[in-house]
Order: sequence, then C-alpha cells, then structure tokens
Amino acid sequence: MSIFMFSAHQFYSTWRIITFKPQKLTPSPLWRLCSCNCHARPDVDLQLNEQKGAANNEVTKTWKKERSSCQPVLDHFDQQYSQELGDLWASARAVLLDRHSWQYGVLLNRFSAVTDITQILQSQGFSTLPMQADGPTSLSNGRTTTVSHSEHQEALDSLSCPFNDSHLQPDSTSHTHVQDFQSDPSLGFPRPSLQCFIHPYPLRFPSQAHRPGQLKQYYILNAASLLPVLALQVRDGEKVLDLCSAPGGKALAVMQCATPEILYCNEPDPHRRNWLAKTLESYIPHSLNSRVVVSALDGRSFGQSEAGTYDKVLVDAPCSNDRSWLYSCSSQQGEQRLKERPRLPGLQAQLLRSALSAVRPGGVVVYSTCTLSSSENYAVVETVLNDCPEAEPEDLWEEIAVPLSRYFTFSPAHPGHGQAHHKASSPQPQNGGVSCSRHRLGILVVPQVGKTWGPMFLSRIRRRK
Ligand SMILES: C[S@@+](CC[C@H](N)C(=O)[O-])C[C@H]1O[C@@H](n2cnc3c(N)ncnc32)[C@H](O)[C@@H]1O
Repeated sequence: MSIFMFSAHQFYSTWRIITFKPQKLTPSPLWRLCSCNCHARPDVDLQLNEQKGAANNEVTKTWKKERSSCQPVLDHFDQQYSQELGDLWASARAVLLDRHSWQYGVLLNRFSAVTDITQILQSQGFSTLPMQADGPTSLSNGRTTTVSHSEHQEALDSLSCPFNDSHLQPDSTSHTHVQDFQSDPSLGFPRPSLQCFIHPYPLRFPSQAHRPGQLKQYYILNAASLLPVLALQVRDGEKVLDLCSAPGGKALAVMQCATPEILYCNEPDPHRRNWLAKTLESYIPHSLNSRVVVSALDGRSFGQSEAGTYDKVLVDAPCSNDRSWLYSCSSQQGEQRLKERPRLPGLQAQLLRSALSAVRPGGVVVYSTCTLSSSENYAVVETVLNDCPEAEPEDLWEEIAVPLSRYFTFSPAHPGHGQAHHKASSPQPQNGGVSCSRHRLGILVVPQVGKTWGPMFLSRIRRRK
C-alpha cells in the first residue's frame, strides 16, 4: 500500500480549508474493503411529526424495501462465531438478521442548542445513557480502584440527568498547560459532557437535515461506538489523534467529552475524508477550526512521522464490519470481502503499532473494531503486545463493562486469549464480576435482544513512561 506524502503546510492546515495533493494516491483494495458505513443504518425513514407540525411529537417509521442478508457471509460467520462465542452467537445472529430490532443512540451536540430536542426525546421515552468517564472508579492514573458494583452503579445513576453539571478533571499525569486551558473563559462553550439518549425499543430518531448557518443538534449512532471514546478519557487541553477517522462519529464524540488542544482526524480514503469533513463542519463551530485538523496519511506511517507526540490516540481500525458485511450488495461482494478478510489483522496490527509510536510515554491508545472476530480483536492486541515491551494493557472490565452492563452485553473473554494467568471468574458483569486478567486484552460488546448495541471491541493500552 502506498504511503501518502504531504508537505507540512498541507498537513497542518485546518479541516475547513485544507487541500490535499497527495503525491501518490492509490487506494489499496483493503480501503475499498473497509469503505462501508460503520454501523450502517437500515433502510428506514423516520419522521419527527413535531417538525411537520403534528401536535404529539411522535416518531414514526416507514420501512423501505429491505436488502436480504448475504448467505456466504452468514455461513462464514456461523462457522467462526459459534466456535468463538458459543451460545451468545445464536442470539447475536438473531439480532443482526432482524434489522427491525436494531436500536439507535442520539448523541447530543454541546455546540448547538439542544433543549428542544432533549424535551422531544424524553417525551418519546428516550433516556440518557450514563456515560461519565470519571465515575467512582476514576482511572485518572490509569489504574482501577476497588469500589463495589452497587456503589458504582448508584453513582452512575446519579449522573444520568441529561444536563449534569459535572466536568472532567485534568489527568494528573498530563502537562501543566491543561490547568490554564481549563480556566480559559474565551472558549465560552457549554461544559464538555457526553450525552447520548437511547430508547428501549428500536426507534430511530430522524437524522437532521443540513441547516444553513446552523450546527446540527445531534448525531445518530450505535451507542456502543461511544465506548472507545469513553475509554480514551480525553481531557481538556490534550493532544489527540484519531488515526482512522471517517466518517467522524468518534471524533465528534471526543469533542463532546472535552476541548482538546488539538484533535487530528486522519483518513486516507479521499471519499471518506470528504464525508469526515462534512461531519466536522456540521457539528463543530468555526471558532474551533484551529483545534480540529484533518490529515490524509496512511495511518501505518503516522507513528514514524509523529513519534511520541500525542496524549491520546484512537485506532478505530478498518475491520470486517459485521453488520455491514451481512448486508453486502451481492454474494460476489460478500465473497470478495471474505477473501480479503485474512489480510485485515496484519493491517490492524500495523496501525496499532503506529499508534503506540505516536503516543507520548505515559499516554494511552485505544484500539477498537466493530467486528466480533477474535482474530481482529484479542489476537491483534496480543500480537502487538508481544513485540512492544513498552505497551501495557489496561483492564476495562470494572471501569466500563461492569457499570454499563445494564445497557450493553459484554462477552466473556475469548477462550485462549488473555486468560493465561487467570483461574475461574464470573464471566458476566451482571454478577458483579471481579476485575481480572482475562479481560486485559479488551472487552467485546455483543448485540443481544433488547440491547442490540455492538458489535464493538475495545482495548486500552498505555505506553510506559
Ligand atoms: C471503522 S472506520 C472508522 C470510523 C470512525 N472512527 C468513526 O467513528 O466514524 C475505519 C476507517 O479507517 C480507514 N482506513 C483504512 N485503511 C487505513 C489506513 N491504512 N490508515 C488509516 N486509516 C485507514 C478507512 O477508510 C475507514 O474510514
């Protein structure tokens, strides 16, 4: 795969005015393979009657003609995932094959006035997902403290008010400029807060049309895609790299959590980069232009050129996006994807290694995918850890899986991965499972009936100082 080369001024331009003139621009087959909309929407139109003048503000839905699932992909998944996930696969399969059951999250945009939308959502039975990164198991030093499950849940529940006032404290290991930045009154935005509304039923709130001169108020997404951002624990004033950024859902979520000094959104695929730029333009105010930069490098070379630069790096890697692949346009497309699938773990490992070079000592990398595939998840992390002695995995079970188990179903660790030093433990967070080494390589959200979020794998790795 070719590596894009940019002059410094192109690379450091802000996303609204950046022009890209790569010397070599030959997208590899793997880009095409991954160029699908992550967590693709079903072919459904929803209408917000309130916007059409109706009195009851009801959200209604009209289903379009649906594409059926792709048999070669389904057969392949059946074979692989029944082995890897056991009984969980049957129920995940049922969800993935029933698009009427899919739930959608509504991420509010703190840069736009959202009060009316909040009221409509609440009147429709949506409620907020408690997603405060600094819960009672605060990981400001990257280590889990021991707090009981009930204490943690109680504290999270108290945070579920849509406009909670709490804000993220600077990481004690961050640079000193963070403190100054936080008290900078010139920014004048509402305090950072990740506010996502979800519904117990598969109602999808309508996407918001472009509003000239106005920012969009919310973004529709699979709520599980917020978990990698939550795990990243971005603080005001940090330098953040989103290595595989398009279409920009997670970049947007990062900007809800904090105001970084700089957020680099990298995307080598030109078509998807345009999509990313549109997302940023629709949600982020002009006054933050200089803080959000789009670049077009091959992520595998990023670490080399920007070694030790970032506080936080997100690698939301190109993967065999299970939801999307199951609905491949044709059997041929599905077969082609499956044929190229074995190349993905190699690319993913290269991207993760590059991220670990780009992060500063003491900083963290979050690796995520939206596939259930063990070889693209646990195995990639394990491979990279084996040859990066300075990389230390952090267990997300207590911090994320346990407190959010009411909303998401997490899989027990894959047999044979990350369990080497572990004996028996409770596999389900519902049981108040004890944090243990079996989850050191990452946690996996598996779609289940009533909690259809995922697939989403996430792993956090700290670069030792
Ligand atoms: C899973 S998607 C990212 C989704 C995005 N983070 C979001 O939340 O909207 C993976 C992205 O990685 C990009 N990609 C593929 N190969 C890449 C590479 N070598 N370096 C960086 N990004 C790459 C794909 O074009 C795709 O847009």
